[in-house]
Amino acid sequence: MGDPLKGKSAIVTGAGRGIGRAIAMALAQEGASVVVNDFGVKVDGSEPASGPADEVVQEIKSLGGKAVASYGDVASWQDSENLIKACVDNFGRLDILANMAGILRDRMIFNMTEDEWDAVIRVHLKGTFNCTRHPCVVMRQQRGGRIINTTSPAWIVTTGHINYGAAKSGIVSLTKGVAREMGRYGVTCNAIAPAAATRMTMDPAVAAALQLRAERGVAREDTAGNSAAAALAQMDPGAVAPIVVYLGSDQAANINGEVFGAVGGRLSLYSHPVEMRMIYKDPQEGVWTLDELETLVPASLASGLANPAPPQPPSEKK
Ligand SMILES: NC(=O)c1ccc[n+]([C@@H]2O[C@H](COP(=O)([O-])OP(=O)(O)OC[C@H]3O[C@@H](n4cnc5c(N)ncnc54)[C@H](O)[C@@H]3O)[C@@H](O)[C@H]2O)c1
Repeated sequence: MGDPLKGKSAIVTGAGRGIGRAIAMALAQEGASVVVNDFGVKVDGSEPASGPADEVVQEIKSLGGKAVASYGDVASWQDSENLIKACVDNFGRLDILANMAGILRDRMIFNMTEDEWDAVIRVHLKGTFNCTRHPCVVMRQQRGGRIINTTSPAWIVTTGHINYGAAKSGIVSLTKGVAREMGRYGVTCNAIAPAAATRMTMDPAVAAALQLRAERGVAREDTAGNSAAAALAQMDPGAVAPIVVYLGSDQAANINGEVFGAVGGRLSLYSHPVEMRMIYKDPQEGVWTLDELETLVPASLASGLANPAPPQPPSEKK
């Protein structure tokens, strides 16, 4: 274990598996003391267990690092408060928070149940809020801290799991807002949009659903087809960790409110959405009429736009 993060303490949620585990290991490798949080659930969020968090703590300790386990549910207000308390009680402060916990309940919009919507929004969006809200009290008092949230390339557009895409989009908004509220206290808040081969992406049910969406022509361009699936299968979750460690370090003090792509060896910076076209009518002249819009919109706001999902003839039932 090295020591660039020596004396710092970190919380990583969802650290029992996949990308969260890789980040917890990397932070410990650089000298941070780590609270390894994991509810130990299946991909759909069911059947909590303590094993995954315990295993990662043992792994860190066996390499000479410092870690304690936390088995709480990030979406529980009480558990998330206890999580921060565990960090401060064990290590005296909280310097780095990496929110990685996540689940899936994939379904097309017309089949999705209320429970499937609520479960995904609850873990990703409320979980990120909970686990950011309590640390912000501590970090504000400390006048410093680093928060790294997890969105996904799906925050821009996704199909077959709009509950997930909506939560990940919400996480971007939350991240940018927290960055503005907490920057004055020396706290930064950024997000990563990763991709890696974990059980979340390699699970046979998830792969089958992706395949079906590709066949139906509703998959995102970058996830459709065998070559995209084969490329994802090669992506080590460990490749996501370095940018998170960097954003957690003192060197990243002026990076605040940004979203970074982390896909294999490719790191990227997302742009901030802006209004790109505008038409204007003086309010003194009344509101737009439908006649005006029928003429103006195709020639201005909607000029050159293409429907990404044009109507198709009904598919034959087998
Ligand atoms: N793997 C990818 O390609 C990919 C792509 C985009 C975004 N992400 C995001 O990265 C993060 C990590 O995903 P992963 O691929 O490593 O998945 P994973 O399933 O391997 O790990 C997620 C971990 O989160 C834990 N968890 C789930 N619900 C929890 C809760 N309520 N409280 C605490 N822990 C909980 C699980 O037990 C699991 O160990 C997720 O937020 C995911 O949405 C992953």
